[in-house]
Amino acid sequence: MKRTAKRLLTTGMNRMGFEFHLTRHWRIEPWNTDAEFLRVMEGVAGRTLVDPVRCYMLWQQARSTAPLGGDVAEVGVYRGGTARLLARTVQPTGRTVHLFDTFAGMPAVDAARDLHREGDFAETSLDEVRAFLAGSPNVRFYPGFFPQTAEPVRDTRFSFVHVDVDIYPSVRDCCAFFYPRLLPGGVMIFDDYGFLSCPGARQAVDEFFADKPETPCYLPTAQCMVVRACTAP
Ligand SMILES: C[S@@+](CC[C@H](N)C(=O)[O-])C[C@H]1O[C@@H](n2cnc3c(N)ncnc32)[C@H](O)[C@@H]1O
Repeated sequence: MKRTAKRLLTTGMNRMGFEFHLTRHWRIEPWNTDAEFLRVMEGVAGRTLVDPVRCYMLWQQARSTAPLGGDVAEVGVYRGGTARLLARTVQPTGRTVHLFDTFAGMPAVDAARDLHREGDFAETSLDEVRAFLAGSPNVRFYPGFFPQTAEPVRDTRFSFVHVDVDIYPSVRDCCAFFYPRLLPGGVMIFDDYGFLSCPGARQAVDEFFADKPETPCYLPTAQCMVVRACTAP
């Protein structure tokens, strides 16, 4: 009887379009318990749009790419939440984190592909984010429109890049700039790939990698991860 009721409830919820599980404690959830992760997350939660599980994916990849050397970049900083997470995570490894954003809101979107609008995410400023990251000496700021702001890092190689820009033209430009500068084994994470609110982001990634040896891997967090082929120059 109890089992039938559970089955009916689960089936009903799933048919309504919800992903519903009655089984509890079926997996470990280190984003709730890992002391080192929770320490670097201090102060981040109120300053980011990225939930703790996605932050945990960033934390893991930022750490695991340390042996490659190279630098770290984030495009799409907004109020500095994930930037602080990355800066604190890689500081012990000596890597610099390069931070790109207009710090004044979303630039022009592709209206045929994007649902966001120009000027979204304007509730921030370079001064405010600088102050928020004052405890991280390993960050560099590049305010303005990316890729126009990327000239100072044109000769830099990267081991980890976080792309959190939501819209087609920006994701396309991030792929074009960072892919050739990504070290073999280096990782790019695209935050918005699986969000219904960001169809242009997914299209830009899929188009760019269609003729590349790497296959973008979709994560259950709605992020997408690309690992640069080890045979890359
Ligand atoms: C979703 S927010 C980033 C969220 C942030 N990572 C966090 O922790 O909450 C997206 C950001 O991308 C920035 N952005 C999008 N395209 C850009 C471009 N081409 N150049 C500079 N900034 C861009 C916007 O200004 C906005 O602040």
